[in-house]
Amino acid sequence: MRPRRFVPAGPLKGRIRVPGDKSISHRSIMLGALAVGETRVTGLLEGEDVLATAAAMRAMGAHVERTGEGAWTINGVGVGALLQPEAPLEMGNSGTSTRLLMGLVSSHPITASFTGDASLSKRPMGRVITPLSQMGASFEASDRANSSQTLPLIVRGASPAVPITYRLPVASAQVKSAILLAGLNTPGTTTVIEPVPTRDHSERMLRGFGADLTVETDAEGARVITIRGEAELRPQVIDVPGDPSSAAFFLVAALVTPGSDVVIENVGLNPTRAGIVEVLTAMGGRIEKLNEREVGGEPVADLHVRHSALKGIEVDPQVAPSMIDEFPALFVAAALAEGVTVTSGLDELRVKESDRLAVMAQALIAAGARIEEREDGLVITGTGGEPLRGTAGEDTIETHLDHRIAMSMAIAGIASREGVLIDDTRPIATSFPVFETMLDTLAQDSAQG
Ligand code: S3P
Repeated sequence: MRPRRFVPAGPLKGRIRVPGDKSISHRSIMLGALAVGETRVTGLLEGEDVLATAAAMRAMGAHVERTGEGAWTINGVGVGALLQPEAPLEMGNSGTSTRLLMGLVSSHPITASFTGDASLSKRPMGRVITPLSQMGASFEASDRANSSQTLPLIVRGASPAVPITYRLPVASAQVKSAILLAGLNTPGTTTVIEPVPTRDHSERMLRGFGADLTVETDAEGARVITIRGEAELRPQVIDVPGDPSSAAFFLVAALVTPGSDVVIENVGLNPTRAGIVEVLTAMGGRIEKLNEREVGGEPVADLHVRHSALKGIEVDPQVAPSMIDEFPALFVAAALAEGVTVTSGLDELRVKESDRLAVMAQALIAAGARIEEREDGLVITGTGGEPLRGTAGEDTIETHLDHRIAMSMAIAGIASREGVLIDDTRPIATSFPVFETMLDTLAQDSAQG
């Protein structure tokens, strides 16, 4: 365990560039590993989750090599030619690696065993097992004492797999992507119906790699995505934009710390991801988009953010999928806003790296915030700009192996009087290894405890 007390900081000032988008980084490696020829990636997120994907694709035959900081080359094996991995695929903390790779394995004539850390081993896999079983894959608990809906699991791919039409029962880009990736090596057309739109990086990137993929809207407004199988993917050159989910911590930190003025460069603002910018702006946050452009087929801008008097709002549950990973950071902003913030429709937060509703409610209450935890959201009464009390003495916030809890409570710490002591900062490396260095550089006066 690596505990740390995050203490009140002076104004945050300067320019930062957050690491590459986690979702796009995973997909760059997976699709590169299935293309024939050399894919070159720059700006790749070198966090533990993405490294788990890289190791798994290597174990299944691709050449995945780091050539410089964030610069990687991938020589793929071609769709249909993944090799049987010799050892279990170690997924660490990464739900995205696990669910998407289960999709890939499901339509290849191979068997792979998936293992994960304590957090990942509690997360529901039934949501991918159901559709992938319909496609012909089979799933078995590798540890018989264990449920067959959680890791560790053995996946046996089907050859050939059967194309399906599947309506997503939960708004999940991971489930959608698992089915589309399985569809790549399935004869015929695989269809996913998505009643509530989720991040569309898989669709954009599969098209970019040359897959025959269509997206239409049906009479009820649901997105209907089809992919034609036995695809041939062409290698690509990809520049990964900065991760809006990582930028979110610095947006909130600058908004709640008096005197702050920060520019976050190169932030991906795909509309299926940018909900946090809208919501913070609606709360009165001063966030300006500068230099709007396209990077790697995704809309990108530099975000200029200044300390602002935030006001509580009722957050429309419709925006939840476009900021699903940003709620822990938003809860911190709400705890320091004036008035009440109401969130709802967030049941999915209970099955992330931790139960983010319960864990954030407990953590913020321990730091002096006023929170009511409901079944599907939090109701937060803010301080009106006053710092939170913080945690006293040895009182420690438990982060439950959840990187976003650790980073959110770090921000709560710099916006508190006494600071906030966190049990373990190591999970931060899953998505944002340079988070602490960036925070310390921006907060000239912050001292490590
Ligand atoms: C992701 C989808 C989301 C998100 C996760 C990354 C992806 O998960 O929380 O961090 O890359 O597809 P769900 O699909 O489970 O909502």
